[in-house]
Amino acid sequence: MDFSVILRAVGSLAVISGVLSVMISISEKVLNNYGICEIDINNGARLLKVEGGSTLLNTLAGEKIFIPSACGGKATCGLCKVKVLEGTPSGLLPTEEPYINQEERKQNVRLSCQVKVKGNMKLEIEEELFNIKEFICDVEDITDMTYDIKRVRLKLAPGETINFKAGQFMQFYSKPYGKVKEVVFRAYSISSKSSEHDHIELLFRLVPGGICTGYVHQALKVGDKARMSGPYGDFYLRGNCEELIMIAGGSGLAPIRSLVYEVIENNLPHKMRFFFGANTLKDLYYMEEFAQIQKDYPQFTFIPCLAFPEAEDEWTGVTGFVTVALEQQIQNGEGKEAYLCGSPGMLDACIKILKDKGFTDQTIFYDKFS
Ligand SMILES: Cc1cc2nc3c(=O)[nH]c(=O)nc-3n(C[C@H](O)[C@H](O)[C@H](O)COP(=O)(O)OP(=O)(O)OC[C@H]3O[C@@H](n4cnc5c(N)ncnc54)[C@H](O)[C@@H]3O)c2cc1C
Ligand code: FES
Repeated sequence: MDFSVILRAVGSLAVISGVLSVMISISEKVLNNYGICEIDINNGARLLKVEGGSTLLNTLAGEKIFIPSACGGKATCGLCKVKVLEGTPSGLLPTEEPYINQEERKQNVRLSCQVKVKGNMKLEIEEELFNIKEFICDVEDITDMTYDIKRVRLKLAPGETINFKAGQFMQFYSKPYGKVKEVVFRAYSISSKSSEHDHIELLFRLVPGGICTGYVHQALKVGDKARMSGPYGDFYLRGNCEELIMIAGGSGLAPIRSLVYEVIENNLPHKMRFFFGANTLKDLYYMEEFAQIQKDYPQFTFIPCLAFPEAEDEWTGVTGFVTVALEQQIQNGEGKEAYLCGSPGMLDACIKILKDKGFTDQTIFYDKFS
């Protein structure tokens, strides 16, 4: 075939596909153009006028109303619930099904990260969520706690303060870095003392290929500005008991550290046993600090457990998974509450043991880092 014929055919194809893509993008704009929508919150208490087309979660965040979210809108945490009284089809999306129970269905509870704003809406949102604020902070310090965990100390803007309950978490926003163009937000538990109102410390454990932890480990520098919102969550001290059993793995230590200081600084009478699970010695951190607390406060016992100590670790402490230590050292659930933080697998295994020993849903509290 003549080369010029082939060239003409390729050229025509390129023109046709160009025209098609312009038509698709125009039709998307026309079809998804919902215009300005009115959102009525809590029966007229707040009235918003917003551009339609985005998720309810992001639309509300744009109006500085921060609905809790741990997964950043991936429909895997189930935290972003709001009551949508008017403005969406009543049927749940398949992505919402696992998180909304029968009672919530009757009350029109939806996952705000899955519902799009396509018209006027009426919502019901818990009043306390309006206390959640956005903070633009200075990164004051970044310290390597282990080979894969960094502690980031953030200073709030001058004159700004935060009040949180020990155990709660913040949502931290990444920025574009390297080849990553996406901006995401993820949940990070506060590891600092709740008595400190002008700083926040977070622990970031690097997830290979993870967007937010990759940003913190590769791009974030001392002196940078960082964006976060919070505080969120119902993982905090109840304390209707004599003893607190605290259990963590990896960066799950963060909220437990804050809880331990809450008890100490407020002179609370509770005994505390903290079981901290790690693989090898190089996964342990804050060891000296917890050893010192144990010395100064006899009510506190620290029990680090290594699942796979290496010969050079010369480990003389508890060897085995944290579940082994729980089996051996906890007799029963009487007079105790349990506070757990870490990977879902570890938590599920520990919760099973605790329940076998008489702990109940009313005495077990946890945050799964999923
Ligand atoms: C309430 C709460 C509190 C949390 N507190 C902390 C904290 O204090 N410190 C901390 O480091 N993390 C914490 N997390 C986990 C954190 O929110 C992120 O999920 C995690 O840092 C990964 O984010 P990423 O953007 O780097 O990874 P993503 O880009 O979201 O994920 C990349 C890939 O890694 C997988 N993945 C995601 N998370 C994990 C994980 N934890 N382990 C293994 N694989 C994973 C994903 O499935 C995906 O395939 C908390 C989670 C919750 C729900
Ligand atoms: S934000 Fe996690 S399920 Fe909606």
